[in-house]
Amino acid sequence: MATIIDGKKVSSDIKAECKNRADALKEKGIEPALAVILVGDNPASRVYVRNKKKACEEAGIRSISYELPGDTREEDLIELIKKLNDDEKVHGILVQLPLPVGIDEDRVLMAISPDKDVDGFHPVSVGNLSIGRPGFVSCTPAGIIELMRRYDIEMSRKRCVIIGRSNIVGKPMALLMLRENATVTITHSKTKDLPAVCREADILIVAIGKAKYVDSSFVKEGAVVIDVGMDRDENDKLCGDVDFESVSKVAGYITPVPGGVGPMTIAMLLNNTLNSAENCI
Ligand code: GUN
Repeated sequence: MATIIDGKKVSSDIKAECKNRADALKEKGIEPALAVILVGDNPASRVYVRNKKKACEEAGIRSISYELPGDTREEDLIELIKKLNDDEKVHGILVQLPLPVGIDEDRVLMAISPDKDVDGFHPVSVGNLSIGRPGFVSCTPAGIIELMRRYDIEMSRKRCVIIGRSNIVGKPMALLMLRENATVTITHSKTKDLPAVCREADILIVAIGKAKYVDSSFVKEGAVVIDVGMDRDENDKLCGDVDFESVSKVAGYITPVPGGVGPMTIAMLLNNTLNSAENCI
């Protein structure tokens, strides 16, 4: 039976560390602040934004909230971002995705100053990561590395297979695992004989977006299995991309859904915001 990686516990440890860092900054006269922009009324986005704001407050980070109507003009959104770029009291800027149809997401993300890009989505942040320079790293993959570190999981020299090639998870995850000296394979929906490739993995990271897609036939005995999925099963119950029931019998370590990778994303957002504020000292 696999060791279950407790993302909720690790994330709450990180949040407590963030609170200490925020207090130390305040003693130096800096109040760390994150601007959160939500456009439109996507219900899932509303929940995500509410959770991010709550986590900020608990960690002693000021959250400055902008809730804009769905028919906001792209130019007005970019104007707001420019204003926040110039505001030295704001250390991070987050535009919740997806944006309403008609707004060019790339253009909006590129308007955020790379110095305040706490989501790590700006091409400058992505470029820095790819050539090994310091910069903001996308929160979910950064959170996965932190989880493995805190469980003393060796990454160097390991075979890592990633399922999924998105800009937010798969690609930055591969770059981070390379930085940890793993040997990395990125797979996707067109990969031939996916289970056989995955069975080579010492560390299998799954971000394919299909409920319980990965069963024990994908997993080598003792492997570390990280589930980035957030899906609904046939009974509408929250589940991941990994069939926890069968895979937990084979894996060495496994992250549950919920309570695995999910809570780490917000913890890393706080961490990125504080890194940005600490750069102001
Ligand atoms: N929408 C889904 N995930 C994310 C995220 O990590 N950041 C932002 N800004 N929007 C998202």
